Amino acid sequence: MDTIGIGIIGSRFAADLHAHALSKIRGSKCEIVAVCSRTRESAEAFARKFNIPHVYTDHRAMLARKDIHLVDLPLTTNLHHTMAIDAADAGKHFICEKPLTGCFTEANALSRQAMFEEAMKNADAVLEACRRNRVIMGYAENFVYAPPVAKLRRLMDRSGGTLLDLRAEESHSGSHAAYARRWATAGGGSLLRMGSHPIGAVIHLKHYEGQRKSGRPIRVKSVLGDVAQLTKTEAFRKEPRKWLVSEWEDVEDWSAAILTFEDGTKATVLSTDVSLGGVKNLVTAYLSNSVVQVNINPNTSLVVYAPDGKIWGDEYITEKVETKGGWQFPSPDEDWMRGYPQEMEDFVDAVREGREPLSGALLAHETVEVIYAAYVSAQEGRRVDLKR
Ligand SMILES: NC(=O)c1ccc[n+]([C@@H]2O[C@H](COP(=O)([O-])OP(=O)(O)OC[C@H]3O[C@@H](n4cnc5c(N)ncnc54)[C@H](OP(=O)(O)O)[C@@H]3O)[C@@H](O)[C@H]2O)c1
Repeated sequence: MDTIGIGIIGSRFAADLHAHALSKIRGSKCEIVAVCSRTRESAEAFARKFNIPHVYTDHRAMLARKDIHLVDLPLTTNLHHTMAIDAADAGKHFICEKPLTGCFTEANALSRQAMFEEAMKNADAVLEACRRNRVIMGYAENFVYAPPVAKLRRLMDRSGGTLLDLRAEESHSGSHAAYARRWATAGGGSLLRMGSHPIGAVIHLKHYEGQRKSGRPIRVKSVLGDVAQLTKTEAFRKEPRKWLVSEWEDVEDWSAAILTFEDGTKATVLSTDVSLGGVKNLVTAYLSNSVVQVNINPNTSLVVYAPDGKIWGDEYITEKVETKGGWQFPSPDEDWMRGYPQEMEDFVDAVREGREPLSGALLAHETVEVIYAAYVSAQEGRRVDLKR
């Protein structure tokens, strides 16, 4: 296949990230042929911005195009699995945003065990559609492609060490997106929405270690989880000024998960919406013979100071800082540091070369399994063993 024709379904925040990343791929490896969105205005504005020739509001009509080989799905989470299955059944390879899927109902409508089963049914159905139609899924877990994580893989190769203790986090002061406030549209709170990144990263790293050492991934064996709604505590509610997002309806804003892998090693993952001071995207790897600290955000490649944030005008500093004043850690190229152009290039190359991408179906599936197992654990107060 020479040029990969791409159709995007969705036209807002994540779609923008993906289209920018795709525009950085050099040569004529790929071309965005069409965009589809729920509203025509949104799709047309997106098409104008990225010079995309065709606009749709019916995704099935777009999927019928013969010049589209790869469908990108930067859509609200509750639509991922059905749109992915539609794309696969139309014979298209696809890119799914994180998390692959979940269970979309009111938080109290079902037990967490029933939610776990529903989420796995959705996840299994997507993988089955890939097998049935022989299409590739690119799982847009950008942590896997972030340059510091790529360097960690090379250091693992060289050191030959064992990942004994992984610690990872994605936290910030809260999402402003309306869909994120409700379980029915988000499928969970901070554990699913943000935790999918650090949980995906630690699962990926143990898969990678296993492949390198014995030709098979080292998978998660059991999960211990806890969740809380810290912005619903009385102490927080009484405070006169709120810096954190606190409009959560039925989703958690704090979570912790301890993962035990098949080889007995551990990962501890934190994801919270109660962390001021900008986005934290962090992984620390304690290997048997070395330590590697991955600071995707914040990092010190650029450190700036201004006594008043207004000095920087409208220049972007970094995501979700409450002020631009004082000492700051802007990323010179945040998209690159987070791995967005690298993930898109791998997905396009995977389709061109007929191979699995570095971040694909197994990682997407296991991430959902671990997160919903953590919800079961948090509700039932016990360690949850995964079927292997
Ligand atoms: N990897 C990352 O760093 C990252 C960052 C942010 C988000 N995400 C993930 O990306 C996904 C999307 O998040 P977002 O923030 O971009 O959400 P968003 O801003 O709410 O955008 C959702 C898009 O889906 C479109 N849509 C909804 N229903 C549709 C339908 N039936 N047919 C066609 N289009 C439809 C909407 O169309 P209209 O605009 O026409 O209404 C909108 O463009 C989420 O799963 C999220 O977890 C990942």
